Amino acid sequence: MKKKILLTRRLHEFALKQLRKKFDVTIHSGKIPMPKNSLMSKIAKVDGLICFPYDIIDKQVIDAAKNLKTICTYSVGYDHIDIEYAKKKKIKIGYTPDVLTDATADLSIILMLDLMRRVTEGDRIIRQGKWKEIYGAYDYVGTEIAGKTLGILGMGRIGTQMAKRAKAFGMNVIFHNRKKKSSRLGKYCSYDQLLRQSDVLSIHVPYTKQTHEMINLSKMKKMKKTSFIVNTARGKIIKESDLIFALKKKIIAGAALDVFKSEPIGKTNPLTKMNNVVLAPHIGSSTDETREKMAEITVKNIKLGIEGKNPIYSVK
Ligand code: DGY
Repeated sequence: MKKKILLTRRLHEFALKQLRKKFDVTIHSGKIPMPKNSLMSKIAKVDGLICFPYDIIDKQVIDAAKNLKTICTYSVGYDHIDIEYAKKKKIKIGYTPDVLTDATADLSIILMLDLMRRVTEGDRIIRQGKWKEIYGAYDYVGTEIAGKTLGILGMGRIGTQMAKRAKAFGMNVIFHNRKKKSSRLGKYCSYDQLLRQSDVLSIHVPYTKQTHEMINLSKMKKMKKTSFIVNTARGKIIKESDLIFALKKKIIAGAALDVFKSEPIGKTNPLTKMNNVVLAPHIGSSTDETREKMAEITVKNIKLGIEGKNPIYSVK
């Protein structure tokens, strides 16, 4: 008898084909995320789960599973899974780092450049028929990139690639990391120095209890009034209400965000009304090439996890 797996959303056809050869596959379609009661009733019967960052795999969901051997998330982040509890239950956890590093670092630099040079803001001005209002040479100016200091919070895979890209634009790089380390790309500094010295603060730490709202109003008050924040990591690393306040009161100059406290955000979110904010719909890893590689890894991860082996990328 084939082992059973549940996908909370479909993957690429090639991946589904491979999965169907080996497993009895159930795919949720319709509402994203899969409603919790439906997830709990379907997970009860399967040996493996493929999920996405918006699926909350908490104790209750894990307890509903009777035969679950592995949870494989189609993401580098795994803060949506109760890892400690899954480990206690001897469930193997697979994830998809490495292959999305370039795409996510690309998006971070794109957002930073956009914010500093006010590209999407200008796009909105043109679309609203208001170009004439900013036609003078001094009416619409941005911030020069070269010579500015980029502060990287979290010098892991993506932070390092962001640093590399920023160096190519002539920026000075400083960074803070949980574990002190050295890098040829920039200088290690304390969190306090990072806040005080950065012209742009780019966030690349995972979301954990320790990083929850680690950027709040008191931290933003230490930053330069001319500084910008870029976040492609997880929304809850910033206290969003404090960020909105700081942007309104010009405590910092602007923010570019791919991630939010609760996603998707709607039109009523105050961030959507601010000109000094660039918004993206959580697309860090969203390129054809990267998403294909993530699917390949997810297939490999679940095949191994179901056999009780460690996935090729395994949360240990
Ligand atoms: C990840 O892989 O964790 C990304 O945030 C998803 O786009």
